[in-house]
Amino acid sequence: METQNSVLLRAVEYTDLTRFYQILQNPNVYSKIDLVHPPSIEDEIQWYHSLKDSQQHVWTIEYRGIVVGNCRIFKADYLPENSSEFGIMIDEAFWGKGIGTLVCQWLIQYAKDMLKLHQLFLEVKHGNDYAKRLYKKLGFQPFSTSSTHEKMVMPFQ
Ligand SMILES: CC(C)(COP(=O)(O)OP(=O)(O)OC[C@H]1O[C@@H](n2cnc3c(N)ncnc32)[C@H](O)[C@@H]1OP(=O)(O)O)[C@@H](O)C(=O)NCCC(=O)NCCS
Repeated sequence: METQNSVLLRAVEYTDLTRFYQILQNPNVYSKIDLVHPPSIEDEIQWYHSLKDSQQHVWTIEYRGIVVGNCRIFKADYLPENSSEFGIMIDEAFWGKGIGTLVCQWLIQYAKDMLKLHQLFLEVKHGNDYAKRLYKKLGFQPFSTSSTHEKMVMPFQ
């Protein structure tokens, strides 16, 4: 298990986009976050520019100085008041080191203490068993199920 010292969350920089592009060429990563195709570098640039006008909070994940993924907390119309959803993606080469656990624990604390949310949601695709195990371990509870996804929730009060 990695310590907090080796994992860093920071603001996304333009120069991170080539790493995100590389990470997302892997079907084991892009298919899990609901992309049908791997993104092009132009898609990544467009996404980066869209962040300025959006209400989402997005961070680059660094592991020992290497960009290994990103994570975000975002609002959506389908969510109840005082709620947000989060998403995370990590380079497959770095799975299983405890990075996802540390980052999710930090996101939960941030959602609760800084954003003062009442609950935090996530959606996980059926078959994404690594992610499901992680979320159950952290205390997320089943909320609803569709034909493709399970929605889970962590209530804060
Ligand atoms: C889900 C994801 C973020 C987990 O990140 P990670 O850094 O591998 O997470 P951790 O190392 O903290 O492992 C978390 C749990 O995942 C499981 N897991 C991770 N890697 C594993 C591996 N190689 N073999 C078996 N289980 C594994 C374990 O259950 C582990 O918990 P445990 O160590 O207590 O048993 C990462 O796999 C990922 O980015 N996947 C692709 C995108 C995605 O699925 N995003 C989430 C969409 S809902």
